[in-house]
Amino acid sequence: MDKLIVHGGTPIHGAITISGSKNASLPILAATLLTDEDCVIRRVPDVSDTNYMVQILTGLGADVERFSGTVRVTASDITDTAPYDIVRRMRASVCVMGPLLARKRRCVVALPGGCVIGDRPVDLHIRGLEALGAKAEMEGGNVILSAPDGLKGATIDLCGTSGPTVLGTDNVMMAATLAEGITTITSAACEPEVVDLADFLNAMGAKITGAGTPVITIEGVEKLKGCVHNVIPDRIEAGTFMAAAALAGEGVTLRRIRHEHLVAITNTLRKAGHQVHFNDVGDACTIHRGDTPMSAEIVTEPYPGYPTDMQAQMTALFATTPGTSIVVDTIFPQRFMHCAELKRMGADITVENGKAMIKGVDKLSAAPVMASDLRASAALVLAGLTAKGSTEIRRLYHIDRGYEHIDEKLLALGAHVERVRE
Ligand code: EPZ
Repeated sequence: MDKLIVHGGTPIHGAITISGSKNASLPILAATLLTDEDCVIRRVPDVSDTNYMVQILTGLGADVERFSGTVRVTASDITDTAPYDIVRRMRASVCVMGPLLARKRRCVVALPGGCVIGDRPVDLHIRGLEALGAKAEMEGGNVILSAPDGLKGATIDLCGTSGPTVLGTDNVMMAATLAEGITTITSAACEPEVVDLADFLNAMGAKITGAGTPVITIEGVEKLKGCVHNVIPDRIEAGTFMAAAALAGEGVTLRRIRHEHLVAITNTLRKAGHQVHFNDVGDACTIHRGDTPMSAEIVTEPYPGYPTDMQAQMTALFATTPGTSIVVDTIFPQRFMHCAELKRMGADITVENGKAMIKGVDKLSAAPVMASDLRASAALVLAGLTAKGSTEIRRLYHIDRGYEHIDEKLLALGAHVERVRE
């Protein structure tokens, strides 16, 4: 297992290019199961989550080729059962359910277990697919969905107790593309990754309108065709480097971003006293640490609100920001694993009932810390950038799930980091 050693105290500056979005790539790769024709997807980040998805597609019988950031998939002859040994490792595998059910009229997919950020139910996914006419059974830890007479369009509300579901919206939208008649999804997730998936499906010949709003309408078609698609930039990777620049930056420029995907993150950084400037076309931004950083409050919400995937990184910034900052996660109330590790580095954080109160301290001190989930691990890297001494972050595989070559990008910005094989 690799570990990352972050030698603190070296300011970061310069420019890097943001990779394609992991969270757009995963459902788009799953959507290739909807056709027997070639699909070519560009800017798929080289991270372990997309590698898992490629393995699942291959395990289902699809022919997959990957060369640098481009993945070509031909799912001409596929089975209906996703391989358990890979599915169990990645929650997002659940998004093969909708396409498999639509294409094969049956699918067998292992129930995702929970994970450190909280229980990860799929009740809304199943409810949505049942509304399209599927019969759902649980057997041996698998969800078995069947629709021998095909799927029928329906009106489906996908709001759960914590609001909309991103992958649940994806699953129902993908299944509805081949259903007979019209499907309307209300309380749909509005994330940019849902819009990117809808764009991909429409390029395949689907008829989807309303993606990006809470009401998505899908008119079913007989068949979908292959297409070529460029994945949108990863707004969470961009946000992570924006937080790094606010923490330890002397002018960091991020290329290949979409300013409209970064509004909530930008507003929070500006409220906290840092500078964010976008270029005229909005596909690049430069961040400067502010002279007088200020405490701030974050309450995570479904898009376009402040993203839950960016609260750990901002907590690392608040750990050395004067005053008391507040972070509330309404989507994953248990998503505070990073706080215990930050406290080992000297942070002053109190966590209770899905809320973290962070009292800024002058400086953190390096300590050996343990990565736990993807975004918590990123928060530890950020904390190490300004901590006194060298911070060792073990279980780097958590970071490699969703950040493409994070060490190389940090080195390109002048950070003093080293990846060590243990
Ligand atoms: C997606 O997960 C992202 N993953 C997550 O990013 C992100 O944190 C999450 O959306 C919220 O924005 C991918 O896109 C691959 P949800 P998803 O269904 O779709 C509850 C990362 O760091 N819920 O939108 O699995 C659920 O418990 C990852 O990149 C139900 O109750 O999340 C949560 O409280 C982590 N029943 C809320 O809804 C369901 O059937 C939102 O979950 C489904 C979800």
